[in-house]
Amino acid sequence: MRKPIMAGNWKMNKTPAEAVELVRALEPIVTRYPQVETVVCPPFVDLPAVAAALQGRGEMGVGAQNVHWAESGAYTGEVSAAMLVGLAKYVIIGHSERRQYFGETDEMVNKKIKLALAHGLTPIVCVGESLEQNEAGITAEFVCGQVRADFAGISAEQAAGIVVAYEPIWAIGTGRTATSEIANRICGQVVRGALVELYGDAIAQAMRVQYGGSANEKNIAELMAMPDIDGALVGGASLKADAFGTMVRLAAESVR
Ligand code: 13P
Repeated sequence: MRKPIMAGNWKMNKTPAEAVELVRALEPIVTRYPQVETVVCPPFVDLPAVAAALQGRGEMGVGAQNVHWAESGAYTGEVSAAMLVGLAKYVIIGHSERRQYFGETDEMVNKKIKLALAHGLTPIVCVGESLEQNEAGITAEFVCGQVRADFAGISAEQAAGIVVAYEPIWAIGTGRTATSEIANRICGQVVRGALVELYGDAIAQAMRVQYGGSANEKNIAELMAMPDIDGALVGGASLKADAFGTMVRLAAESVR
């Protein structure tokens, strides 16, 4: 039985003060649904304020949106895994916006995953095809290739805790969601299928695979009713406490 994980990727939104306001508004809602793991992923500069606001209460997990692959060094503007320890439990790695706008490759993603794991952080590894790849009918092949490349050299023991987010690029911020059947097929047959090949059935069945891309209060119940969708990585709809709180409630109701 996989515990659903609902994660809010705030992207480049919210000042530290706004971030604290949002987690304070979310906390009483999230606390009612312990059957779901809820995570917020604010920008780096918000992490200390958010971690302090949630100190010791542990109802909500905190994640970073990125991490560098090196321990330390001359990488202006970057943040290392060691710096995130104590501030975040999770870290989003390989988001399509990082791949698209900042040239991240599967090789970088793979190195980042390894360093995050070495520091005890839990990666949320993002994969997903472009509109062109989708229309060319190569989604399964492409996503499977990303999973294989991103997990290269990662042991079954390390992989077991990792979360994978399937985010079709054409569905991100566009209002176009993959139908729940298609999302379930890619999360299950393709992503989990690739994980079964890499790590065997027991590990792959225990790993959580989220869907992301225009997930919101209206479509989350249908997505969560699918057997291979273990939660969502939510962008726009995670910026408002009522919308994201409703999504966490609906995800919790899907558990019963
Ligand atoms: P939206 O929910 O805004 O489409 O963003 C999805 C996403 O990229 C989450 O990482």
